[in-house]
Amino acid sequence: MIEHIKHIKTSGTIVRSSPFLIKRLLRGIDFRRARTVVQFGVGTGCITRALLGRMRSDARLISLELNPVFVGECREEIRDRRLTLRQACAGSLPSLVDELGLGRIDYIVSSLPLAIMDDELVERIIMASEDLLAPDGLFLQYQYSLSQRSMLERRFGDVRVGFTLANIPPAFVYECTPTATPVAAAGGL
Ligand SMILES: C[S@@+](CC[C@H](N)C(=O)[O-])C[C@H]1O[C@@H](n2cnc3c(N)ncnc32)[C@H](O)[C@@H]1O
Repeated sequence: MIEHIKHIKTSGTIVRSSPFLIKRLLRGIDFRRARTVVQFGVGTGCITRALLGRMRSDARLISLELNPVFVGECREEIRDRRLTLRQACAGSLPSLVDELGLGRIDYIVSSLPLAIMDDELVERIIMASEDLLAPDGLFLQYQYSLSQRSMLERRFGDVRVGFTLANIPPAFVYECTPTATPVAAAGGL
């Protein structure tokens, strides 16, 4: 909590996500088929732990967090060979995908405080996410307002919005599906 308060401008909150919000956020994930999962904004690691607790033994989680204090604490506390935890900006995802030879991503789970981030960076992260997701993948994001809804609707093929009161503050959950690639453009015809 102290780290969240000290870095309120990049964390966007002062408390960790509630178990109810985490459950609601991860509800859209089919863990039986999730092989490659990416997480943006690890914070205290509560969503990282929840993901690892549900993921297959042969799945992989790549988690990106800007704050070195959070990264250090999570490295100490979460020991799991499926986890690659990097102190890095979510904007570096395309180069990480190349570096780690990831291929298509099944799910991206984001706790990024989009509403207080630089617009150009947010657009870059969202465009790269949409581009790197598998066609049946999902981009999952929680937010404390609907301020980013129209931006997400412009970038993704379909956006569903849920809500939970059981968090401080109450939160919206976005489930975003990538735009379908036309068969011809995908080289299928
Ligand atoms: C709302 S907090 C995450 C809280 C987390 N769900 C928890 O309960 O502890 C957002 C996190 O995103 C991180 N963050 C902000 N901008 C980022 C960026 N561009 N790339 C990666 N992480 C970022 C912040 O450092 C912060 O830890």
